[in-house]
Amino acid sequence: MKAAIIGAGLIGRAWAMVFARGGWSVSLFDPVDGAAANALSACEAGLSTLAAHGLCDDLAAAFARISAAPSLAAALDGAAHVQENGPEVLATKQAIFAELDALAAPETVLASSTSALQCSLFTEGLAGRARCLVAHPVNPPHLVPVVELSGAPWTDPAVVARTRTMFEALGQKPITVKKEVDGFILNRLQAVLLVEALRLVGEGYVSAEDLDATVAEGLGLRWSFIGPLQVGELNAPAGLADYLTRYGPFFARVAAGFDGEAALNPDNIDRCIEAWGAAPSAEAVAEMSRWRDARLAALAAHKRAAAPFAPAPASSADT
Ligand SMILES: NC(=O)c1ccc[n+]([C@@H]2O[C@H](COP(=O)([O-])OP(=O)(O)OC[C@H]3O[C@@H](n4cnc5c(N)ncnc54)[C@H](O)[C@@H]3O)[C@@H](O)[C@H]2O)c1
Repeated sequence: MKAAIIGAGLIGRAWAMVFARGGWSVSLFDPVDGAAANALSACEAGLSTLAAHGLCDDLAAAFARISAAPSLAAALDGAAHVQENGPEVLATKQAIFAELDALAAPETVLASSTSALQCSLFTEGLAGRARCLVAHPVNPPHLVPVVELSGAPWTDPAVVARTRTMFEALGQKPITVKKEVDGFILNRLQAVLLVEALRLVGEGYVSAEDLDATVAEGLGLRWSFIGPLQVGELNAPAGLADYLTRYGPFFARVAAGFDGEAALNPDNIDRCIEAWGAAPSAEAVAEMSRWRDARLAALAAHKRAAAPFAPAPASSADT
């Protein structure tokens, strides 16, 4: 099977690794000179990190499956799936999707990695709009498996189902957004947390460092295995309903005080940036990203090895 990766920046190169590791041949296209070549060397490094953590069985074979295409048409030729990763600009997505729809074979699925543009905004006028959807990854998708599938009202449900099956086979964790919503699911959740984090830091309730520690050393540890609903399930003797009876009024009171405008106004943002400290150099960001990727790979390996929760068989005393 062949995947065409259109746009070979941060996200495109990570998708190339996902498909190549899963046995697909990958054709990378990027209109900017040198971008695809840079992506190829980043893929080699990224696949080595995966291999070092047991997350890629054959690094050389996976890397050999990725190649740079000389043109968009060449990248699309024979592709079963297209993953678009161009700039997050609506007019650019509209232009790219018009070209993809004109050039790709009718059965090819056209997916966009867009973070925040609804599928209906850039596919409405296309003859092949039924084969288009958003497949929104989390950076970096070769290490964080969730991918949000969000079709437009005219997307063929069979295309969403087929794409879901494909990503599962690649070792990703697709989730389906059942109707279009701004921010999909993940970024709506992230928005609630980020907005409140900015508010708490900017208004002086906590230091920036302690705010981040609250997630990295607190909430995030549970969240790497269970989601917020299951946290509720385990935090009250009789499960989620019991949890919401006990703590629902408290959450309602706190939620009534959420205030995005207060969090994101320029004065509050200035205070947060000052509290966070000096901006790191590009080299420091790259070094931190490599560290993050190695930790994520180790966590992915741990999650892969950990047995999923299975209830103990009922004992005779229970019967
Ligand atoms: N970075 C993230 O955390 C993240 C996470 C999820 C989704 N996304 C989404 O993925 C997409 C790509 O983001 P990124 O972070 O990789 O950006 P990036 O800037 O790293 O890469 C964008 C690439 O697109 C190329 N490009 C420019 N014009 C193009 C065109 N007409 N056709 C094809 N390619 C073109 C550029 O040369 C560049 O290599 C965006 O839609 C973004 O919202 C990003």
